[in-house]
Amino acid sequence: MCGIFARIANEPVAPALIEGLRRLEYRGYDSAGIATIEQGGIERRCAVGKVDALEAVVRSGPPAGTIGIAHTRWATHGSPSERNAHPHVAPGLAIAHNGIIENHRELRHALSDRGARFRSETDSEVIPWLMHQHMANGVSAKDAMHRVGEELHGAFAIAAISENEPNVLRAYRRGSPLAVGFGEGGGVLASDPQALAGYATEAMILEDGDSAEITRDGVTLFNRTGERVQRQTLAVDPSVFACEDNPYAHHMLREIHEQPDVIARILGQYRVPADVLAMVPVDFRRVSRITLVACGTSYYAAALARRWFQEFARVPAEVAIASEFRYEAFAPPLPGELAIVISQSGETADTIGAMEVMRARGIPVIALVNQIGSTIAREADGTIPLLAGPEIGVASTKAFSAQLTVLAMLALAAGQRRNQPGIGQFHARLQKLGDMVTAALHNEPAVIAVAERIHNAHSMIYVGRGSLFPVAMEGALKLKEISYIHAEGFAAGELKHGPIALVDPQTPIIALVASGSLFEKSASNIREIAARNGRIILVGDRAALLSLSDVSTHSLTVPQGCDLLQPIVSTVPLQLLAYHVARLRGLDVDRPRNLAKSVTVE
Ligand code: F6R
Repeated sequence: MCGIFARIANEPVAPALIEGLRRLEYRGYDSAGIATIEQGGIERRCAVGKVDALEAVVRSGPPAGTIGIAHTRWATHGSPSERNAHPHVAPGLAIAHNGIIENHRELRHALSDRGARFRSETDSEVIPWLMHQHMANGVSAKDAMHRVGEELHGAFAIAAISENEPNVLRAYRRGSPLAVGFGEGGGVLASDPQALAGYATEAMILEDGDSAEITRDGVTLFNRTGERVQRQTLAVDPSVFACEDNPYAHHMLREIHEQPDVIARILGQYRVPADVLAMVPVDFRRVSRITLVACGTSYYAAALARRWFQEFARVPAEVAIASEFRYEAFAPPLPGELAIVISQSGETADTIGAMEVMRARGIPVIALVNQIGSTIAREADGTIPLLAGPEIGVASTKAFSAQLTVLAMLALAAGQRRNQPGIGQFHARLQKLGDMVTAALHNEPAVIAVAERIHNAHSMIYVGRGSLFPVAMEGALKLKEISYIHAEGFAAGELKHGPIALVDPQTPIIALVASGSLFEKSASNIREIAARNGRIILVGDRAALLSLSDVSTHSLTVPQGCDLLQPIVSTVPLQLLAYHVARLRGLDVDRPRNLAKSVTVE
């Protein structure tokens, strides 16, 4: 989604603004712009398309200002165009805005009646005009910012510069994330704390209703009543955007290969199941039902974990897509209900909405979140950090395996608390997960060979049974989002109820199998596909692959594990397959079209 970056320094800030926008590119956007103050006046440069296009515009007439704001826009109100690109201006002011202004129509009418002249179709343009009108009436810039914050409905983060105070950067937050920092060279703010890397070692996270005043001397935060406040700080990882140190061609490939380290970090931090329980105020002995809620890849992690909570903890569990769940009609909650929300970014608007619904119903919410300091992490009743480290590639990979590893620990912890048998044994098996993922990664040459055969396909089908069904869905999602090949994941047993009509020799079918109780059932489904000339690529352990070698055109081996480990390990070749197919198609793997890393609108 949109990104904000701003800087005040002792030297021209345009290069830093462009670099800042590059760091936010992974969030997804379709136009970009900057504004600085130069010789007392606002200077604005915008371009449609990538930051490269903006950089070319800036190079042809570099602004010399030492204070500036920058923005990458993911179009919501009005098409991607220079006119609609941020920053937006009113006389003497420029602002960059993330989020949605729900009451922009009413405000636009009222402001137009009072003389505002709008140039764009965006909701955001009401912000500089509101500020301008307050300031024209003698209100200070700081108070004008707070007043505007109160007048707007929706979720937003704003950065602003004003000709009235050419040495102050201002920011305001409600609902959309914003972090500020200060270092030797001056002050900085961004919608993603990691984007402060190199400019500040710590990021201060604004809370809802807070504003920030950043000068060359430091940062001051004010709460909604205008009093000075201190807020939570996060360490900024200086290496996260250091692409020159990345031996991999893309962030996504590096993140896939980081998975064994992520798993080791999680199992090192949460040594025994009780360690995850210590982070959340829940007594699983009293839990009567769990609802897991998330979106996209995080939803597939939830779908898998649902089975684990039932199997290991014997608690009824259900899973819901956040965007649907938040508008459902509900029966009265039962005593002992618990909600678990899962989010890499911690800023997904739909998941936040679902969380609010749960809390309004009096149901405690625990969150599994990668981005510490995010809205979900702050607002849940208890949060378990995923410890995956910053994930830059838009397609989620290491955050997914981190979600599954932490969810596995949590399900085992719940089982232990409920005195279920065999938990210690499963916990011991979990310790082997990192080595198994490493072994699956070693099979990358075989994955590349398959990708070379299928990367021109028009459509692909993924099938799996039991705990491999959510993995099939996740594999199909990974493929479609970065390769733009149509892909669907199905429960293997469901194929004969309709989707089998899609089977033809041109459509690769990625069939997930594992030795174990469901093997024979899966094998029958796969043979049904083979009987209809399906082009089958098997993913499974050696024994399972051997039994089906007569029907597969290719196979990808993963180590054999139990119901807890097999789905996590089986994800690895699917991530690699999506990556290599997209690479062979010459696509921008880390920044696929139309997508955003952090989906902060409904
Ligand atoms: C897919 C992907 C998305 C996210 C979804 C939820 O690779 O990244 O489907 O999983 O947008 O995002 P979070 O986990 O940040 O709530």
